[in-house]
Amino acid sequence: MQAVVYTRYGPPDVLQLANVPTPVPMDGAVLVQVHAVSLNASDWEALRGKPLYARIGGPFRPRHHILGSDIAGRVEAAARHATRFRPGEDVFADILSHMGGFAEYVCVPETALAPIPARMTYEEAAALPQAGAIALQGIRDNGQVQAGNKVLINGAGGGSGMYAIQLAKLTGAEVTGVDNAEKLEFMRSLGADHVIDYTRDDFTTNGHTYDLILDVAAHRPVFAYQGSLMPGGRYLYVGGSVATLLQVLLIGPVIGRAEGKKIRLLAVRPGAQHLVPLVELCQAGKIATVIDRRYRLNEVPEALRYLGEGHAKGKVVVILD
Ligand SMILES: NC(=O)c1ccc[n+]([C@@H]2O[C@H](COP(=O)([O-])OP(=O)(O)OC[C@H]3O[C@@H](n4cnc5c(N)ncnc54)[C@H](OP(=O)(O)O)[C@@H]3O)[C@@H](O)[C@H]2O)c1
Repeated sequence: MQAVVYTRYGPPDVLQLANVPTPVPMDGAVLVQVHAVSLNASDWEALRGKPLYARIGGPFRPRHHILGSDIAGRVEAAARHATRFRPGEDVFADILSHMGGFAEYVCVPETALAPIPARMTYEEAAALPQAGAIALQGIRDNGQVQAGNKVLINGAGGGSGMYAIQLAKLTGAEVTGVDNAEKLEFMRSLGADHVIDYTRDDFTTNGHTYDLILDVAAHRPVFAYQGSLMPGGRYLYVGGSVATLLQVLLIGPVIGRAEGKKIRLLAVRPGAQHLVPLVELCQAGKIATVIDRRYRLNEVPEALRYLGEGHAKGKVVVILD
């Protein structure tokens, strides 16, 4: 099969389209013919090996040689003990823990797979898993946003921010989206009440406070975030620098406690069961997926460069024949 492979960390030029053996599913897994795979910041981080957490399991060389974790396609074959899905069924999944989606075929454990519902295209299904799960768990499950809450989403013009803005608005929150100047109009179009260009203004120093800060691009000291929370407010770290992550883990549980503030890591729970509410919201027309650009498999380097250089508004999807 054809796949986009890399064997060392670096810029998109280290990626190559190559012929590799088609994988064989192990017990409890199925072989999926990939029809669409969406890009995530986690692909960009794993390509570059930055931040350092992107090198877990592969400190010097990439652990997985094929990136791509949000896949949608058709079941080609099922291995022993894989009984939930039959060849010919349309499925999608987030396979962040082992990746392999930038390829014509990928093996996926059955527990990660969900059926693609009628009226949902492969590209929509591929866009949803990782970004949707971050948004749903960040806004609803862990963020516990309620009507009237003030919510700030840092990095709101990207994939998970796109869903997070819509989910927060659906709950009746007042939403501030932070991203670069190119994405301000996009965030407004999704429903953001206020937008901030992070290249010009620092939301932690403007005197405003929030019930929830959902941070997909965390690079500041935790004390800055603590000062931007209302009493009882929550800060959730999704991605960003390792220095901020360590502070969140080590100091987060202690600072702000007297005022009931919670500063935590959002450890997104993967699995098919977490896709069900997202699918329902999409099917009901309550949240929409915006696909900024579509690329072919041989254009994955260009697609990742577009995402990594900060131009993508919403999702970027690779479409396979
Ligand atoms: N915690 C977990 O369990 C978990 C699970 C999966 C993924 N993740 C993490 O989730 C993170 C990204 O999610 P995503 O796919 O939504 O990313 P994305 O689509 O790339 O969106 C991130 C957005 O943040 C913006 N941004 C960059 N630096 C910023 C700054 N200093 N201030 C404000 N905005 C900034 C980016 O814009 P620019 O174009 O300007 O760069 C981009 O629009 C990744 O770090 C990934 O590792 C976490």
